[in-house]
Amino acid sequence: MEPVKVGLLGLGTVGGGTANVLARNAEEIARRAGRGIRITHAAAREYDPSRILGLDQMKVTDDAFEVVNDPEVEIVIELIGGYSPAKELVLQAIANGKHVVTANKALIALHGNEIFAAAQARGVTVAFEAAVAGGIPIIKALREGLSANRIQWAAGIINGTGNFILTEMRNKGRDFDDVLAEAQALGYAEADPTFDVEGIDAAHKLTILASIAFGIPLQFDKTYTEGITRIEQQDVTYANELGYRIKHLGVTRKTEKGVEMRVHPTLIPERCLIANVDGVMNAVMVKGDAVGPTLYYGAGAGAEPTASAVVADVIDVVRALTSDPENRVPHLAFQADELSDLPILGMEDVVTACYLRMQVADKPGVMATIAGIFADFDISIEAIKQKEPGEGETEVTLIMLTHRVLERKMNQALERIEALETVHGPVMRIRAEALAS
Ligand code: HSE
Repeated sequence: MEPVKVGLLGLGTVGGGTANVLARNAEEIARRAGRGIRITHAAAREYDPSRILGLDQMKVTDDAFEVVNDPEVEIVIELIGGYSPAKELVLQAIANGKHVVTANKALIALHGNEIFAAAQARGVTVAFEAAVAGGIPIIKALREGLSANRIQWAAGIINGTGNFILTEMRNKGRDFDDVLAEAQALGYAEADPTFDVEGIDAAHKLTILASIAFGIPLQFDKTYTEGITRIEQQDVTYANELGYRIKHLGVTRKTEKGVEMRVHPTLIPERCLIANVDGVMNAVMVKGDAVGPTLYYGAGAGAEPTASAVVADVIDVVRALTSDPENRVPHLAFQADELSDLPILGMEDVVTACYLRMQVADKPGVMATIAGIFADFDISIEAIKQKEPGEGETEVTLIMLTHRVLERKMNQALERIEALETVHGPVMRIRAEALAS
């Protein structure tokens, strides 16, 4: 049988990795897929030919629309990233009756509802395993492996660059900007690295995870997003002293009131496996009612780990080429007409424990006043640490860990605390999760 002809948009880090994996493992891939898979047409503005296998078998153009309009191409792999022209290219490929494989989390999180509707109407598949957690097959696990379960929550380290930065800050005391530059050089970071450090990339991925976990439409605009740029070396150190690690976590949970979707720095007890996921590695925990807690771990970024997910999607598409569109796995795990309109909770309705760091005057009664305000809001304190003032200093650093509290109440308490004359500057708050089963 003739190999399936694939069009590849992008020959950068992941595009090059995808071409290489497909060429290097061609024989085993053909045995798995039942047919050979060959990239016949690629589009790229700039690429390094010395890094890419199989270029002699491809026509390379700088016009991506030429690839999506190529009548010979059956599957388009979109690896150029960003919203535009990726969206137009994907919609054009779908309109042309081609299946699409993409690693573009921004595109899926923002425009996935429209793209999936177009794909369903045209009877083609859009596969996006590489969009979440790089090489970890978390979409497949959630959509297929756990499909017997009512998912209760999912929480993950889903940005490799951010995890790399936090790990280097903790282990080597390295400077934030210095580690970010290294992540960029290694090809982990987004084209705009603020997407990594401000949590936007993780929020894209969390939005997708939440939809697949709970069968809700993609709602990126409702995902609470906070990055790691406010984290200081001293917070990493204090968290350590308290027996915690700071990780940038995406959390989605189904509660009686609705669905939480949030991305923020999080203290996790160091005894938790996920607290020990370091460097560019990602990990996602999923708790299902039947299976209990499960954990998925692997490289979250990089050329070949991401290519691993891209190529697996291509193989899945090839295996399903002859199947009825109705009998394929639904894009968002639940049948398209069975998605639910569960409300998404605002951050003020979320309950978490909190780490607080504040600079306070070194005077009698300050701690008692702060504790009194917490008592007024029924906020229970789990641990307190006061750092000794330096020689001649009149203020001290106070670290507190609270029990779980409704965010609205914590906001009100912090407003009163920050208004005290004896509290200097804003209070640093980092939410904490036990991730208990
Ligand atoms: N910039 C992303 C990360 C790449 O660091 O995780 C993988 O999505």
